[in-house]
Amino acid sequence: MPGTFDVLPPESRRWEALLATFARLVASAGYGLLITPTFEELSVFQRVGESTDVVRKEMYDFVDKGDRHIALRPEVTASAVRAFVQHHPTTPWKVWYAGSNFRYEKPQAGRYREFHQVGIEAFGSADPDLDVEVVALGWEYYAALGLQQVELLVNSLGDGVCRPPYRALLLQFLAERRDQLCLEHRARLEDNPLRALDCKKPECRKATADAPRQIDHLCEPCSLHLARTRAGLDALGIPYRIETGLVRGLDYYTRTTFEYAGLALDSAQNALGGGGRYDGLVGEMGGPDTPGIGFALGLERILLALDAEGVETGAALPALDAFVVDFAGGDAARDLTATLRAAGLRADRAFDGRSPKSQFKSADRSGAAMALVVGPDEAAAGAVAIKDLREGAPQVTVPRADVVDEVRRRVGR
Ligand code: HAM
Repeated sequence: MPGTFDVLPPESRRWEALLATFARLVASAGYGLLITPTFEELSVFQRVGESTDVVRKEMYDFVDKGDRHIALRPEVTASAVRAFVQHHPTTPWKVWYAGSNFRYEKPQAGRYREFHQVGIEAFGSADPDLDVEVVALGWEYYAALGLQQVELLVNSLGDGVCRPPYRALLLQFLAERRDQLCLEHRARLEDNPLRALDCKKPECRKATADAPRQIDHLCEPCSLHLARTRAGLDALGIPYRIETGLVRGLDYYTRTTFEYAGLALDSAQNALGGGGRYDGLVGEMGGPDTPGIGFALGLERILLALDAEGVETGAALPALDAFVVDFAGGDAARDLTATLRAAGLRADRAFDGRSPKSQFKSADRSGAAMALVVGPDEAAAGAVAIKDLREGAPQVTVPRADVVDEVRRRVGR
């Protein structure tokens, strides 16, 4: 299928590393795992904005056998809000997620029809220090993976008080220059004038260069919110650039919006992740007025950025600790792998009574640190020969009872 892909071992070890690093990081900040369905009623996702490409053009929607109008999720925020409204957990409610999303886009490098995100959402606080926490967690994630060429872009989109007058001002400005905009934004101007600010086409960039900026037209509470958010990022030593054209592709945002750009990537697909506040969304989806903020980070883009920066991820994950080579009947392979695994070590073996040569070949291919060899002599003596497969240390023979300790000592765990 165009725009989809398989991930096989050993490449999937990189994905394991991305997920494990994220889970560890967000758990350390009090976020719990949220799992929601991959498909929901279409109406759940329509709330992300009737004027957005995600809803207008990219939705994978269909009518199921029960005549329900369903969509595969294009993102998780709407589902998280739906779950919040449905289960009314106590706030603050801080959750994280990882999984597939679906958008009918033209497939290209870094753009897929089924793609994967990790993300967080935090409900129940309008405190700008929460904005700082959320933005910082995304930043720390990239750093933990070893990415260095990431730029943080921050903007404020105002709120229900200061956005409408700003929008009217912008619309008036752009309407006077309608014929200088690209065709798409000429046609969609009244729908969503803010999107023209985000357009990458040279004609729109030129026509909007002197457009009024939301950041100069914030009401006082929004202005104070932005100032406190900026002060927090400064205090944590997180560098960022104010990007007044950052409006994002979903309609639910208020106040803080942000994006992480991968500077080592081709600029058309360099959004590694993004997010922002959505203080009105819970109310719009039928819940009590509750502020919210979150982000989602694209895993495919992160892998591209890691490649572009030459960072190895996942290779650092331990492969197997030991591979049992048993040509004395198979009992040792069965029992030793079980003992090692029970001790928390990673162990594998060959099956089907293969020849010693074939088993050693499998041991080499497995990436194990060592082979535990049991031939008829070792079996008779109740011993195991340990052959180093990486550094070529001399082979030693140890009593069966000492094998776990010896493997542990050698792999340092
Ligand atoms: P988004 O900006 O639409 O935001 O997507 C977040 C990230 O997902 C993008 O920066 C990009 O890395 C990745 N992504 C999006 N579309 C594709 C695609 N077709 N192929 C590969 N990667 C893609 C959201 O999804 C919001 N739910 C973020 C959020 C959470 N806002 C508040 N909370």
